[in-house]
Amino acid sequence: MQTLKGKKVIVTGGGRGLGKAVALLLAADGADVAITGRNEEHLKTVTSEIEALGVNAAYAVFNVDDEAAVKTNIDKLVAQLGGLDILINNAGIGNMGSLTDMSSADWKQVIQTNLFGAYHVAMAAYPHLLQNGQGDVVNVSSSAGLKGGAGMSAYAASKSALISLSQSMMAEWRKQNIRVITLTPSTIASDMSITAGLTNGDPEKVLQPEDFAEWVRDILKMNRRALIANGSIFSTNP
Ligand SMILES: NC(=O)c1ccc[n+]([C@@H]2O[C@H](COP(=O)([O-])OP(=O)(O)OC[C@H]3O[C@@H](n4cnc5c(N)ncnc54)[C@H](OP(=O)(O)O)[C@@H]3O)[C@@H](O)[C@H]2O)c1
Repeated sequence: MQTLKGKKVIVTGGGRGLGKAVALLLAADGADVAITGRNEEHLKTVTSEIEALGVNAAYAVFNVDDEAAVKTNIDKLVAQLGGLDILINNAGIGNMGSLTDMSSADWKQVIQTNLFGAYHVAMAAYPHLLQNGQGDVVNVSSSAGLKGGAGMSAYAASKSALISLSQSMMAEWRKQNIRVITLTPSTIASDMSITAGLTNGDPEKVLQPEDFAEWVRDILKMNRRALIANGSIFSTNP
């Protein structure tokens, strides 16, 4: 196992939900963590919580849809952190609806954020990981990307495409000692899943963001010769 102490981490969508839990847990393990999102109030609050753990923290407000803003802000955060070891490519939207109910604009928006957004962030992070000589990229897809379902065509298509992007990225970037990890979690209690009516979030039964964070931390701590290329996590008996 390797330590995460002193590692420089960026978590997109770190102001709430899964990203927030990962940001706080990696900071508790000694990593310096920068978070991103669109809601500055959430980002400020979580940044303070990260700093309270005794590590360096930073945040940037930008939309992952905007390629130029992504590049500018990732460069800025890396400069603030003093390097980059780990990218948690987590930001995403979960707009659901049947094919006939969803407008084509909404459908395209889901692809733009979940596929192109993740692509923009990974591409902006790559030169910094290259300069570092090694690194990790965790792409947060979904079990919905493994198999489509009623009422989730846009989300499932975006997450399926993200799996392919991530697996191609893994095949290319492992040659630079960058571990690209494709995660396909099932339903976890968060704003996204509760709003979509996928779960009531019951902590006795349903995965919580903290469970996801522990899983990500443990994958990252594996010896660098080991790469968990793909992984799923499910609630035991929801
Ligand atoms: N929860 C689940 O059941 C589940 C299962 C499988 C996979 N996932 C995936 O896990 C990731 C996190 O989901 P979550 O459950 O934590 O959702 P969430 O609570 O809705 O949080 C989504 C996060 O993504 C950020 N975000 C969304 N669109 C963005 C954009 N265009 N630009 C920048 N940031 C944006 C949000 O930032 P702001 O708040 O600042 O807008 C927020 O921090 C997503 O990729 C999701 O698809 C979730």
